[in-house]
Amino acid sequence: MNGSRILLVVSGGIAAYKAPELLRALRRAGHSVRCVMTEAARAFVAPLVLQTLSGSPVRSALLDTSEEGQIGHIELAEWAEQVLVAPATASFLARMANGLADDLPSTVLLATRAPVLVAPAMNLNMWEHPATRANLTTLRARGVEVVGPDEGELACGFEGPGRMSAPEAIVAHLALLLGPSSLAGERVVVTAGGTREPLDAVRVLGNRSSGKMGYALAAEAARRGATVRLISAPTSLPTPAGVEREDVETALEMRAAVHAAAADASIVLMCAAVADFRPANPVARKIKKEKLDSQDELDAPLDITLQRNPDILAELCRERSSSARFVVGFAAESHDLLAAARRKLARKGCDLLVANDISRRDAGFDSDDNAVLLLTPDGEVDALPLLPKPVLAARILDRVEKMRGARA
Ligand SMILES: Cc1cc2nc3c(=O)[nH]c(=O)nc-3n(C[C@H](O)[C@H](O)[C@H](O)COP(=O)(O)O)c2cc1C
Repeated sequence: MNGSRILLVVSGGIAAYKAPELLRALRRAGHSVRCVMTEAARAFVAPLVLQTLSGSPVRSALLDTSEEGQIGHIELAEWAEQVLVAPATASFLARMANGLADDLPSTVLLATRAPVLVAPAMNLNMWEHPATRANLTTLRARGVEVVGPDEGELACGFEGPGRMSAPEAIVAHLALLLGPSSLAGERVVVTAGGTREPLDAVRVLGNRSSGKMGYALAAEAARRGATVRLISAPTSLPTPAGVEREDVETALEMRAAVHAAAADASIVLMCAAVADFRPANPVARKIKKEKLDSQDELDAPLDITLQRNPDILAELCRERSSSARFVVGFAAESHDLLAAARRKLARKGCDLLVANDISRRDAGFDSDDNAVLLLTPDGEVDALPLLPKPVLAARILDRVEKMRGARA
């Protein structure tokens, strides 16, 4: 990601102790950060920490000739490409909503033309107070973006909404706001993870897909401005910022969800590892070992009959009435990667096939990296080297955008 110039405004709530962590996460994401603090914030976090981590002087006072001489408040307001208020106290939100400019941070907020993201953090009753609700409504109506707050145990001992969003979640939300808008207006469906096919009440047939590739694709599509629906088989991954997620378990559930979501989608990325077969006769109760033992067949094998699952990708490619919907298939192969991928592309009829070699130990299932081949129906093959899955997601979407552009 190309870094932006972020002005971090820290106001005086208990969550200000997370500001250094947030600042580091912003720097890690490649942003340049300058920081201003309210007077109250200085009671919760030392300016020297934020100054050291940002590499720039941290300002608080408005009417201070020496500080104003170094970097003027208007200069700060103009410098920022994006303003982030985190944590945003109830009081600071009230001042923003009313256009007050009674300290340095609120004056900068009034003077800037940069977009603003706020991360509120406060006691539950303060958050639910009609005054705070009204202030949020006013700010949203003016285009201020809000991230969080999260629910959970609050520092004041209450339980409920009021916790500042985690620094990584704030940085991810910011990435959505700062991302390119090349997929704005598009509806993208992404499937991810490995389906689980029940065998009995406790056992399932599954596969080793972690869902990381699909989640990276969903995050990247959202970052590019698309409305993204992520249809996810069980994973332990958090939902990417700006993505609407629907959880499914079996191939049949995945099929129903995909067909419903794909109806008005312009791009479908079928990244999930959908089981080709499912147990033909799943048992509602647990299959007991003793039952076999009692038949004096201690070593008797348990035969499981499998039946074929529907081929969702092929169905989707067949059913599209026009060529408007762009369908990307994914293939995981353990041998003869290119030949198998070519056959799959021809059989399914998708617009692009992403093939990966699951026999590699450093890539593929459950790994953070992957190396893939991109195959197009006209016979083109592009080999992408071993890359982190988020980078790969961007490269795949670049290709999708290019092919759709050429088609248009
Ligand atoms: C220990 C302590 C914790 C506080 N935590 C919060 C908080 O999480 N959120 C909030 O809105 N106000 C909180 N306050 C109240 C603010 O500090 C107070 O409203 C202050 O005027 C905010 O100033 P500022 O918005 O200029 O930073 C807290 C106060 C104290 C004493």
